[in-house]
Amino acid sequence: MAGHNPWPDEGNTGHIWDEDIRELDNPPPLWWMLAQYMGFIMIIVYAIYYPTIPTPTGHTQGVAGWTAYREYKEDFETLNAYRAREFAEQEKMLEELSPAEILKNQDLAVYAEKTSKALFGDYCAACHGTGGAGNPDFPVLADDDWLFGGNAQTIYKTLVQGRKGNMPAYAHLGDEKIGQIADYLIAMSEGREGDASVSAGKSLFMGSGCAGCHGATGKPMAAMRDFMGAANLSDGIRRFSAGDYKESMIRTIKYGVNQANENTRYAVMPAFAGRLSDKDLKRLSVYVHRLGGGE
Ligand code: HEC
Ligand code: HEC
Repeated sequence: MAGHNPWPDEGNTGHIWDEDIRELDNPPPLWWMLAQYMGFIMIIVYAIYYPTIPTPTGHTQGVAGWTAYREYKEDFETLNAYRAREFAEQEKMLEELSPAEILKNQDLAVYAEKTSKALFGDYCAACHGTGGAGNPDFPVLADDDWLFGGNAQTIYKTLVQGRKGNMPAYAHLGDEKIGQIADYLIAMSEGREGDASVSAGKSLFMGSGCAGCHGATGKPMAAMRDFMGAANLSDGIRRFSAGDYKESMIRTIKYGVNQANENTRYAVMPAFAGRLSDKDLKRLSVYVHRLGGGE
């Protein structure tokens, strides 16, 4: 910094670097000051218009009455009105046709699928995962492994009335036998069900009434699925997918599904009749069917 100021008349602050770099004392440009004042004014306008300032019991409400939820509702109504206007014909057909009939009409099925994505995200994905990819305790909907059945009509029935699988608890068999059954089921899922090492488990499976629901080969009869909902044990696709498969099966066998004990598996698909319109339930049935595993 220089000791004396060689440019006394240009309004510099007297701070000079590298011989000739000076700090000037100019006011900011007018446009900049105006933008800053506008900014302050907008803060005040926003604070009055929208919910903004925290209070001990919540926050100021804002004169616009705006809430995110209200905006969502309004957008949703706009969307429905738009659909009713632009796709009146399709919407009417969804109301009148059965899910199976909708599926047969390629264009309508595509329309149903496209208008279901948001619904699925809002009402189903929390349990079944995005795109029906499943969660540890909730079944995958995007594969062709079905508990209750994967034709459009059965899926629709599932959505309307809900489902609650029922498997008794077999704790009375004791840990050793249950372990043998689990070994047999693992072997079965890997195509080694004939191995001599798992023959004890096989006789227990046959002798304990498991086959009545799960089928003698671990594959429930298609005709029975609608009211049984028993899992296919032969395909290696896990119904309850958390942790080690053998441990998981032991727990299911020991404590059953939806039984009155603390460790039982909880497996309830809620009924959606009354929560969603019939038309939306048909739409969703077609969507689930078209996720890839429809029968
Ligand atoms: C609270 C969690 C939950 C929600 C929300 C939910 N489900 Fe389910 N869903 C389940 C459970 C658990 C099962 C398995 C029931 C059983 O094992 O008895 C199931 C089963 C199903 C099945 C039968 C699958 C099969 O293999 O037969 C279909 C189809 C289905 N859900 C579709 C849906 C759709 C579509 C929605 C959204 C409208 C939805 N679910 C919302 C928990 C849920
Ligand atoms: C009354 C019918 C019924 C009987 C009897 C029954 N199960 Fe089940 N089982 C089910 C149902 C239903 C499910 C699927 C539960 C669900 O998702 O709702 C199931 C699920 C299972 C699972 C879980 C599969 C997985 O991938 O996680 C195993 C393992 C199993 N059963 C084994 C057995 C064995 C072993 C026996 C005999 C000791 C047996 N079950 C008897 C109805 C039955």
